[in-house]
Amino acid sequence: MGEAWTLIRAQAQAYIADEPRLAELLEPAVLAHGSGAQALVALLVARLGGSDAPGTLLRELLAQAYAADPALYRGSERDLFAIRERDPACACLCSAFLFFKGFHALQAHRAAHWHWRAGQHFAARLLQHRAAEALGIDIHPAAVIGSAVMLDHGTGFVAGETVVIGDGVSLLHGVTLGGTGKETGDRHPRIRNGVSIGAGAVVLGNVEVGEGARIGAGSVVLSAVPAAVTAVGARARLVERAPAAAPVAWSAG
Ligand SMILES: CC(C)(COP(=O)(O)OP(=O)(O)OC[C@H]1O[C@@H](n2cnc3c(N)ncnc32)[C@H](O)[C@@H]1OP(=O)(O)O)[C@@H](O)C(=O)NCCC(=O)NCCS
Repeated sequence: MGEAWTLIRAQAQAYIADEPRLAELLEPAVLAHGSGAQALVALLVARLGGSDAPGTLLRELLAQAYAADPALYRGSERDLFAIRERDPACACLCSAFLFFKGFHALQAHRAAHWHWRAGQHFAARLLQHRAAEALGIDIHPAAVIGSAVMLDHGTGFVAGETVVIGDGVSLLHGVTLGGTGKETGDRHPRIRNGVSIGAGAVVLGNVEVGEGARIGAGSVVLSAVPAAVTAVGARARLVERAPAAAPVAWSAG
């Protein structure tokens, strides 16, 4: 049993002791579960549920991934500890576990990625679709994401198919890791360990953001960022070009 789960249970019990009416939420969401993985699957089913995704199917797909690869749940614990370390607004693991949608979307992605790698692409796409619909966070199931990653707030985060994100990375809301529309194949950014990317920043193309680099909020990055530097700014300039003959393939995915 993971350390995070022990803490989450203890915090849930403390909240109930302090305010008994919270038992209505915390008993079924936390205390009724025999393991953190079980609680996480139930939580994700509730968060991702929608009219086009039967709860039984979602539960089966999520439970299958978590049962097949215990590293998925261990990864979720590392993500929770990363939130506690890096987000000054995180009061406790229990609230991050239950309420932080960036955390939920990342765990949905980890399960979707498991299905993608298992060749179950439609199931993976369903999980991606539900996370995008329900949470406003759209991560292609093929994207590779390391451990101890924080998607803070998360709303509007988009990551394309060939994105690679390392360990210890922090990504604020509204970040786009996408293609330029001019490349095919390996066409998305590689974000190395320990990088932080501020709200609304856009990183486009097959570019590397080096270890420990920081990208300021609202910046637009079109070329490599060396390790341990800070990149800021979005400079728009007019470029005279003939209009494209056909619609441009701008999708991040
Ligand atoms: C870039 C950032 C990490 C600060 O890095 P830093 O190395 O400490 O930079 P400084 O604050 O010393 O600023 C250095 C220069 O960059 C500029 N700058 C900082 N952030 C910028 C941004 N997002 N866009 C454009 N310019 C920026 C500063 O004005 C300063 O310019 P100057 O040298 O002409 O005076 C920070 O400003 C930032 O953007 N953080 C993202 C936080 C975020 O997304 N918050 C949302 C929370 S909901």
